[in-house]
Amino acid sequence: MSQRMRLMWIPNQQWRWMRTAATLVLICWIIPQVAPAQDLGTWELLLENAGIACMHAALTRFGTVVMIDRTDIGASQIGLPAGVCRDSDDLVLKHDCTAHSVVFDPVTKTVRPLFLQTDPWCSSGQFMPDGSLMQTGGDFDGVRKIRTFVPCEASGICDWVESTTQELQSGRWYSTNQLLPDGRQIIIGGRSAFNLEFIPPNANGPLYFPFLNATNDDQNDNLYPYVHLLPSGNLFVFANRDSIEYNYLTDTVVRTFPRIPGEPRNYPSGGSSVMLPLLASNNFSIVEILVCGGAQYGAYLNSAAQMTCSNTCGRMVVSDPNPTWAMDDIMPIPRCMGDMILLPTRDVMIINGAQQGSQGWTNAINPAFSPVLYYTYASPGYRMLTMAPTTIARMYHSTANLMQDGRIFIAGSNPHQFYVFDVDYPTELRLEAFSPHYLAPSHDLQRPTVTVSPLQITYNTPFTVTVSAPVTLAGPPEINLVSAPFSTHSYQQGQRVVSLAVSSSVQIALATLYQITAVAPWGPTLAPPGYYMLFAVNEAVPSTAVWVLLST
Ligand SMILES: *[C@@H]1O[C@H](CO)[C@@H](O)[C@H](O)[C@H]1NC(C)=O
Ligand SMILES: *[C@@H]1O[C@H](CO)[C@@H](O)[C@H](O)[C@H]1NC(C)=O
Repeated sequence: MSQRMRLMWIPNQQWRWMRTAATLVLICWIIPQVAPAQDLGTWELLLENAGIACMHAALTRFGTVVMIDRTDIGASQIGLPAGVCRDSDDLVLKHDCTAHSVVFDPVTKTVRPLFLQTDPWCSSGQFMPDGSLMQTGGDFDGVRKIRTFVPCEASGICDWVESTTQELQSGRWYSTNQLLPDGRQIIIGGRSAFNLEFIPPNANGPLYFPFLNATNDDQNDNLYPYVHLLPSGNLFVFANRDSIEYNYLTDTVVRTFPRIPGEPRNYPSGGSSVMLPLLASNNFSIVEILVCGGAQYGAYLNSAAQMTCSNTCGRMVVSDPNPTWAMDDIMPIPRCMGDMILLPTRDVMIINGAQQGSQGWTNAINPAFSPVLYYTYASPGYRMLTMAPTTIARMYHSTANLMQDGRIFIAGSNPHQFYVFDVDYPTELRLEAFSPHYLAPSHDLQRPTVTVSPLQITYNTPFTVTVSAPVTLAGPPEINLVSAPFSTHSYQQGQRVVSLAVSSSVQIALATLYQITAVAPWGPTLAPPGYYMLFAVNEAVPSTAVWVLLST
């Protein structure tokens, strides 16, 4: 374990005493008198014009968000630095001095233009173990490209670098990437690409992947497959309505799961999926997959019909010997193109999307303005709570990412081929943040702060974290690691929550300061190496995260 420690904020002893006494008086006095209304979250506008529509987004370990759109879309609304332009064979603009990727700094609420040479339209990506963002494929000149963004401080000048020496083995758009335990990335599928490959590349690639052929149909419902790295080291792969457990080391299908009831779920039907948090409390032995939303078969082929989207969710315990899909929870409204965000509290926020139609240009109407909170551990059939609505439609080509302060960053929506503003569902350049229930001031007294934590943690090795809370911690808080996924097309590639074993905790000052010993994940199949957000969670209220590097 790294001996370097991060020292953040240790409250002044005397001030803490006074504040504790004062807040205790306040709680005893206020709480019985004002039962706070159920908190349904709040929306805020972060930026009126980000300059680009946002098709893909990823949070970096510096707290900034990299946003990516297409390059062959004509001029954006943000210029590249003076004198920098791009010449290409684009259909619209062959000499283009505007940016199609930006990095957003939530502290200053500003964007900085980034330079992309080739088209990352409907591409995929994932962070590598060293914290660099690897971004693969796209369309036209970008279909075989590999791009890397090495993130920097918000004040830095880091930018995209496109490989000139290495290309993908297959052209890929609409594929899914997953970081592997050995630090490679696997890239699965894509339009007319029923195969998979690795970065760095395997010798005999690409490998034919019959599952994608078997799950194909007339509207290509096998695109952007859902891929979850299981603690066993195998991959759970879901396309259309079917799923398998796949051993990529031996190229074998280990198990075939039952078909999910209801509609097709992947692109262009616009469902979403998460692997629910992996818990030390069951020794990470229970692994559950959740799939929500989708569109009726034919909604894409017959887009003018604007068919109602799916309102069902399926949940399956894939670690069971004979699992089946439990369909107990019906969403309050139908939804396609919803994003599913794993929260630090281990619940799930279903956000963005539409109630009718499918993915594709102008294929949807009737936006799903209200997020739905999915309480992972509530009783079946009682897990859904409708949250406060936004007023901005976030449909095709929109994104959602958890930020380190627990808010959800929302960008994009462009159901048009180009930038179009004078229509019902325009190209959306505004950035928003949704603050879930747990950020309400009514929870301030439970909100923990991570005051000391390591910068680096080592597999299967204990480390200590110091956590404070204004009044009291009802026992030691949870320590949860949350990955930073690549958000695109209503699915968060590489999203993961691991709730760590808290082996001991020592109360070091009144009830307000705890020193906690947590144990890092036992191995890279449980959590592949790389940067994670570490959240302390006290009574279902998370701290702001600190970033830790998990490595061998
Ligand atoms: C792909 O699936 C179709 C049936 O859907 C089958 O006829 C064809 O042989 C398959 N192709 C390969 C290469 O397996
Ligand atoms: C927990 O799981 C790991 C990995 O499967 C195993 O090595 C270990 O023995 C298990 N511990 C307990 C207490 O079951």
